[in-house]
Amino acid sequence: MFTPSEFFKEAVEKVKREVKGRAVVAVSGGIDSTVAAKIASDALGDRATAIYVNTGLMRENEEVDVRNTLERLSVNFRIVDESSLFLEKLKGVTDPELKRKIIGNTFIEVFEREALSLGAGYLVQGTIAPDWIESGGGIRDRIKSHHNVAGLPDHLNLRIVEPLRNLYKDEVRKVAEYLGIPGQRQPFPGPGLAVRIMGEVTKEKLDLLRRSTAILETEVEKLEQKPWQYFAVLLSDRSTGVHGDRRVYGYTVAVRCVNSTDGMTANFSRIPHDVLEKISSAITNGIPEITRVVYDITDKPPATIEWE
Ligand code: XMP
Repeated sequence: MFTPSEFFKEAVEKVKREVKGRAVVAVSGGIDSTVAAKIASDALGDRATAIYVNTGLMRENEEVDVRNTLERLSVNFRIVDESSLFLEKLKGVTDPELKRKIIGNTFIEVFEREALSLGAGYLVQGTIAPDWIESGGGIRDRIKSHHNVAGLPDHLNLRIVEPLRNLYKDEVRKVAEYLGIPGQRQPFPGPGLAVRIMGEVTKEKLDLLRRSTAILETEVEKLEQKPWQYFAVLLSDRSTGVHGDRRVYGYTVAVRCVNSTDGMTANFSRIPHDVLEKISSAITNGIPEITRVVYDITDKPPATIEWE
């Protein structure tokens, strides 16, 4: 049986043994990396620095939440704003795999730079089992190159330490609960909103998706039984809508709500129609550029949870 307290104690000891100098920890705001940061912090004290890169691809309020959580856990941290750099690198890129690779590489570039400035030789990451299994590291076929794994450059100057490598999502949640990590949020992919924008990532699309996501989260979080994961996707094709007596050519948002235990398989959630209606009108009323909202009724497999 999995015991979070024992896992945590052993992970701290292992990081203590493995890391000889200074380490940086990649924190994204998700529970995986927050747990990894706490492990590193307890193992290494001031020799560990958690770094949060603002990629510009995160949800509303994410940076504030991360700051509050890390302060509460007494983890040493640094916040770096690189949103312009990420947007610049993603200019004109539409291929999903390329997007993931560019984001992964840029992420690591920034980390190497920060690590160098701190004199760190190690990078502690919150990679969990489904991340590397689905990235072609296991027996399954390559599905998507997951951020934190396939995005790594060949000549990495940091030694990677992955204390959560053998855990599944439900186990990480248990460890987070044990550590009192507050406000456990739903899973969120490393490449952020970029893999929920079909086609090129632009500032305008990011803004539309960020606002749609916030509206959807507010509505879904009113449910007594929340789905395991719930988010908005911004499609690249436009469709016709009506504003007053004017026809407009607007964006379409797809709503994705799924139930799952570890993200490896999933079922679409049977959200009540009146809730879907509220989500739809809140999004189209609040964001005039969006003229259509659709609901994704596909399980995993055959679909993946994210659209890219
Ligand atoms: P998919 O789309 O592969 O997603 O069915 C399974 C679960 O993993 C999350 N996900 C990611 N998590 N880095 C992450 O840390 C990533 O690159 C990534 N891509 C997908 C996804 O949100 C879902 O919970």
